[in-house]
Amino acid sequence: MARLAGVTPLISPSILSADFANLQAELARIATADWAHVDVMDNHFVPNLTLGLPVLEALAKVSPVPVDAHLMIADPDRWAPAYAEAGAGSVTFHAEAAAAPVRLARELRRLGARAGLALKPATPIEPFVDLLPEVDMVLVMTVEPGFGGQGFLDACLPKIRRARAAIAASGLDVWLQVDGGVNLETIERAADAGADVFVAGSAVYGAEDAAAAISELRAAAAGHTHP
Ligand code: DX5
Ligand code: ZN
Repeated sequence: MARLAGVTPLISPSILSADFANLQAELARIATADWAHVDVMDNHFVPNLTLGLPVLEALAKVSPVPVDAHLMIADPDRWAPAYAEAGAGSVTFHAEAAAAPVRLARELRRLGARAGLALKPATPIEPFVDLLPEVDMVLVMTVEPGFGGQGFLDACLPKIRRARAAIAASGLDVWLQVDGGVNLETIERAADAGADVFVAGSAVYGAEDAAAAISELRAAAAGHTHP
C-alpha cells in the first residue's frame, strides 16, 4: 500500500450498495481497490440503520483489502475504539458527533488504526485545521450522510479546496477523502479540488464489472490530482 500523497488516488468502494446477503462475495469483487468502505449507521446520527461491530469484525476477517470504517453514529467517543479493535484499518468518526475528537483520534492511533475526521456538508473545515496533526485523514462528505445513490454536492468543492490548502500548509501527509455521489462524471472535479481518496458505492457496485469501474475511477482521478 505504498503511496505518494496526492499522486496516487485511492479508491474505497462502499459496500452500502452491495448485496447484503452476500457480503463476502461482494468484498471479493473489489479486491483491486485500495480499501473497503464500510458505512456504520445507527439511526440516531443519521436516519438509517446498517450494521455494527460484529458484522464489521466478520468483514475485516475476510476482506481482501483493509477496512475503511465510516462511523455515522452518535457518541463515537464511546463506540469508535471498538471498531479499531475489531480490525478496521481506518476508523473515521464525525466531527459533529465527537465530544473530544483529539482524545478519540489518539486512542484510535494507539489501537493501531488510522484516525479519520468526517465533516457533513454544512460543517466548515476551519475549526479543525489545528487538529490536522492528530488525524490521518479528513473526510469531506459530498452528500448528506445516510444513503447511497445521492447526487454529488458541488457546494462542497470549495471546502475540499480549503482542506487541501490547509493540509499542504501543514506539511503533513493527511489524506483527503470524499464520499457521496462520486462517479466517473464527478470524480475529476473532486480530484481537481484536492481529494485523493475516493469513496464510491453505486458507481462501483452498480457496475457489471466492479474491477473495471475501480480502474476507470482511479484513472479519471489520476489525471486530475492537485499540484
Ligand atoms: C452515505 C455513505 C456513502 C455512500 C456512498 O452516507 O457514507 O459511503 O455509500 O454511496 P454513493 O457512492 O452511491 O453516493
Ligand atoms: Zn461513507
